[in-house]
Amino acid sequence: MKILVLGSGAREHAIVHSLHSEMTAQGTPAHEIHAAPGNPGIGEEATLHAIDANSPDAVVALAQELAADLIMIGPEAPLVAGVADATRAAGFPTFGPSAQGARLEGSKAFAKDVMEAANVPTAKPYVCTTLDQVNEAFDDFGAPYVVKDDGLAAGKGVVVTNDRDEALAHARECFENRGEGGQVVIEEYLDGPEVSLFVVSDGKDVRPLAPAQDFKRALNNDEGPNTGGMGAYSPLPWAPEGLVQEVIDTVAQPTIDEMARRGTPFAGILYVGLALTSKGTRVVEFNARFGDPETQVVLARLKTPLSALLLAAANGELAQFPELEWHPQTAVTVVVASEKYPDTPVTGDPITGIADANAIPNVHVLHAGTKIIDDSLVSSGGRVLSVVALGDDLSTTRDLVYQGVDAIGLRGSHHRTDIALKAAHGEI
Ligand code: AMP
Ligand code: GLY
Repeated sequence: MKILVLGSGAREHAIVHSLHSEMTAQGTPAHEIHAAPGNPGIGEEATLHAIDANSPDAVVALAQELAADLIMIGPEAPLVAGVADATRAAGFPTFGPSAQGARLEGSKAFAKDVMEAANVPTAKPYVCTTLDQVNEAFDDFGAPYVVKDDGLAAGKGVVVTNDRDEALAHARECFENRGEGGQVVIEEYLDGPEVSLFVVSDGKDVRPLAPAQDFKRALNNDEGPNTGGMGAYSPLPWAPEGLVQEVIDTVAQPTIDEMARRGTPFAGILYVGLALTSKGTRVVEFNARFGDPETQVVLARLKTPLSALLLAAANGELAQFPELEWHPQTAVTVVVASEKYPDTPVTGDPITGIADANAIPNVHVLHAGTKIIDDSLVSSGGRVLSVVALGDDLSTTRDLVYQGVDAIGLRGSHHRTDIALKAAHGEI
């Protein structure tokens, strides 16, 4: 197939890497892969196109020029901008929800409305338009306070804190940034470990991928600010038996059914962010796309050809799709972030050691914020690389992934050293 992948992060590199590894019976690459805009790592496995991936017109024009057989939309921004609507209308099989569907991620208030209608277990919310309402919500719930910007905020719109002044300051900042009509969602605090479950849907049926755990805070021991994600692992040896089926039955299928009932069927990835609380399983958030960095570990373990799964979902044929197959190994990824990420990432520094890391058996490096300047690779974003390892168990895989991370040179960079550590010690 000719496949066009939109996006430029390590998630998209993981997707391209999986598609690129699919071979024909003769041992030649099964697909011609294109990416827009991509990054230098993706460019080693796909042809890059320097277009604005958030522009429906630009993407349709590129898809027509390529005669693409499948379009895979990685990030939320093009989804919210209606790129999937445009490519579908132009006749291209597209993996990724419509702009209406992407509102499950684009608006926390909309997601809560759908969850309520579908009877999905989640934290009780107050949707507030004034600071007085925010204060009333704080009085009702007490600490810890959970304050969420209603709109897209690249994983950084949420503050969870015991400090009421800090919580109020975040709410005030959200109102100021959004201006007239801005909304802030104040939520009940959910205790317990978090799980990310990606559910593939064609608008009617659903297929779960393997659960993963993400590390959202910048620093070890879950300290520091929220980030897009600093590392992940899969599978989760501690996850209760039956968790995935429970989430399908109580969360994913009811949500997909509710979206269809509203006349806005959701086809793509329903990313279910869960907390396993003392009171039961609760939804923390929905996203309308694969998670980053969880995709890096989930796809490393997926044996079923990704292209076939994406195409079946894009064509509304999931019901007939065979059972998914998985490699039994454990995958761990660690994100190498630039200096001062997530606040004010420093960019433009040379990156070394990727070939050395890739030379370690069962380790591979995925690019995110990288670019080539004067023939050398430099950092160009907050999350720069995802180092991924596959191994027999969490301890050995952690050792491997950190060997890979240690091979990388980037001035001022930082990474967490405790990814999957508690799980490796059986402490979750
Ligand atoms: P969100 O963007 O909604 O996923 O929030 C980002 C992160 O904030 C989540 O992954 C959680 O770690 C934390 N968080 C969000 N909502 C809650 C909640 N109701 N209770 C506790 N932590 C939360
Ligand atoms: N890893 C969290 C996200 O992709 O939103």
